[in-house]
Amino acid sequence: MAEKQMSTGYIDTQNGDAQEESLRMVSARPIEGEPVSDEELRPETLDGFIGQPRLKAQLGLFLKAAKKRDVAPDHILLAGPPGLGKTTLAMIVAHELEVPIRVTSGPAVQHAGDLASILSSLEAGEVLFIDEIHRLPRAAEELLYIAMEDFRVDVMVGKGPGASSIPLTLPRFTVIGATTREGMLPSPLRARFGFTAHLDFYPEDELEKLVERSAKVLGIVLQDDAAHQLALRSRGTPRIANRLLRRVRDWAIVHDLDQVGPDDVKQALSLYQIDSEGLDRLDLAVLKAIVNSFDGGPVGLNNLAAMVGEEAETVETVCEPYLVREGFLVRTPKGRVATSKAWEHLGRKPPEDVMKLF
Ligand SMILES: Nc1ncnc2c1ncn2[C@@H]1O[C@H](COP(=O)(O)OP(=O)(O)OP(=O)(O)O)[C@@H](O)[C@H]1O
Ligand SMILES: [Mg+2]
Repeated sequence: MAEKQMSTGYIDTQNGDAQEESLRMVSARPIEGEPVSDEELRPETLDGFIGQPRLKAQLGLFLKAAKKRDVAPDHILLAGPPGLGKTTLAMIVAHELEVPIRVTSGPAVQHAGDLASILSSLEAGEVLFIDEIHRLPRAAEELLYIAMEDFRVDVMVGKGPGASSIPLTLPRFTVIGATTREGMLPSPLRARFGFTAHLDFYPEDELEKLVERSAKVLGIVLQDDAAHQLALRSRGTPRIANRLLRRVRDWAIVHDLDQVGPDDVKQALSLYQIDSEGLDRLDLAVLKAIVNSFDGGPVGLNNLAAMVGEEAETVETVCEPYLVREGFLVRTPKGRVATSKAWEHLGRKPPEDVMKLF
């Protein structure tokens, strides 16, 4: 398969931090040259979808009931951070229901009319997948409420003062919305979804299974513990796990290896400056700045950013969420503080007060 090497540049124009983030091997968003959703590695059935057991059970039941009743199921909202499987699940739903899927996204819909024409061409039972649904223009959102609730769309005929709207009845269909920012969805829109799934970061054992599955698909033979080492470095995110696996495959190809062992994983990924906890150069620079230059903190965001030579926004939106989630850093009203775990990760003994408090 033709695949470009990791390179600089960015894809997502949603916000400034996405530009920074997509330069990083451990970004949860796709990086330039990389397929947004990796068809080759994407499971087609709910059974093949790894992890998220509760969500799978709920969705399985929901889809089975709809199939048994022979109706299009209620609309589905998939919410959660990038790279956790929202698009994958949308495809799986259509596959399980054995119906076609139409794909669009919030930013692709520039005018309400664009959405009206998609809606009016839907067939009975079809799935309409709207990625980044929080980015739909307001007028399109309003049109969508009505279509989702009443299966009706008002089509404008004519222009200017003589224009009139003709209501068009739509067949029953299912909207699947995906969002990384559920909070940005207006509540009337959120309320139109009969099933909402929140995708969560994956625990290590699930990521390990995911890596094993992807390795099989890619024809990579992993020795004991290699999948585990990859899982440890994948920041709870399938997209990152699959990306790191491909970089490990490069290593195996270049070194003529038939099998990949745990040390190969460690060495291949340390080339990309990714450590045993999935921290990369920038994450470590942030922790080192707090511990070494500010005695563990508290330190203000701007000072910290200046110290590591990054924009404050990058540090705040790109590095910190993972560091906070993994318990390396806490945000206090006085500033950022490195936890005992951070001190120990850097090979330093945490001071008494840090040990007591964090
Ligand atoms: N549970 C899973 N089992 C197997 N593979 C998965 C799973 N979740 C995600 N993947 C793989 O991870 C990659 C990213 O998943 P996907 O594109 O569905 O994420 P997403 O949530 O839609 O991300 P974004 O918010 O950026 O659109 C895909 O290649 C997919 O095959
Ligand atoms: Mg997606």
